[in-house]
Amino acid sequence: MSNPFTVSLVTWHDGEPLLKSIRESVFIVEQGVPKELEWDGLDENARHALAISHKGDAIGCGRMLSNGHVGRISVLPQWRKQKVGTAIMEALLAYARNHDYQNVDVDAQTHAMPFYRKFDFVEHGEVFMDAGLPHIKMALRL
Ligand SMILES: CC(C)(COP(=O)(O)OP(=O)(O)OC[C@H]1O[C@@H](n2cnc3c(N)ncnc32)[C@H](O)[C@@H]1OP(=O)(O)O)[C@@H](O)C(=O)NCCC(=O)NCCS
Repeated sequence: MSNPFTVSLVTWHDGEPLLKSIRESVFIVEQGVPKELEWDGLDENARHALAISHKGDAIGCGRMLSNGHVGRISVLPQWRKQKVGTAIMEALLAYARNHDYQNVDVDAQTHAMPFYRKFDFVEHGEVFMDAGLPHIKMALRL
C-alpha cells in the first residue's frame, strides 16, 4: 500500500502557516523550546519539507539551510513511528544531492540519534545543551 501521506518541498513563503503550526506544537508546546529560539530568522532562506496526510492535515516538516544544515525535523505525536520523519529526511537529502551539497549536518537531540544514524549520519564531539535540551553534532558526507 502507498503511504497515507505525501511529502513535498516548499518555500517558507508558500508553507509558513502549516510549517509554523507543526513546529509550534512539537517544539514550543511539547518540548518547551522558547519561541525566540524557534523562530530564528533562518526560515525565509531555507528549503522546507512538508508532510501532508491523506486527509489534508499538516503532520510533519523539516528544513535545510543553504550551508547543508538540517533542522527542525518534527512529526506530530500521533504520526510518529510511521516513517513520516524518514520521508521528510529523504526529501531534504534528495534536495541536497540535487544541488551538489558535499556534506550535511544536524544538531541532533540525543534521543533522536538512532533516527539520524539510519541515514548514516555520524556523531562528532561532545553532547551540548541548546534550548534546554541535550544535543550532539552529527554529519553526513554525500
Ligand atoms: C525524531 C522524529 C522526527 C522521528 O520521526 P518518525 O516519523 O517517528 O520517524 P520514523 O518513523 O521515520 O523512524 C525511522 C527510524 O528512526 C528511529 N527512530 C525514530 N524515532 C525514534 C525515537 N524516538 N527514538 C529512537 N529511535 C527513533 C527508528 O530507528 C526508526 O526505525 P524503525 O521504525 O525501523 O524502528 C519524531 O520522533 C519527532 O518529531 N520527535 C519530536 C521532535 C524531535 O525531537 N525532533 C528531532 C530534532 S533533532
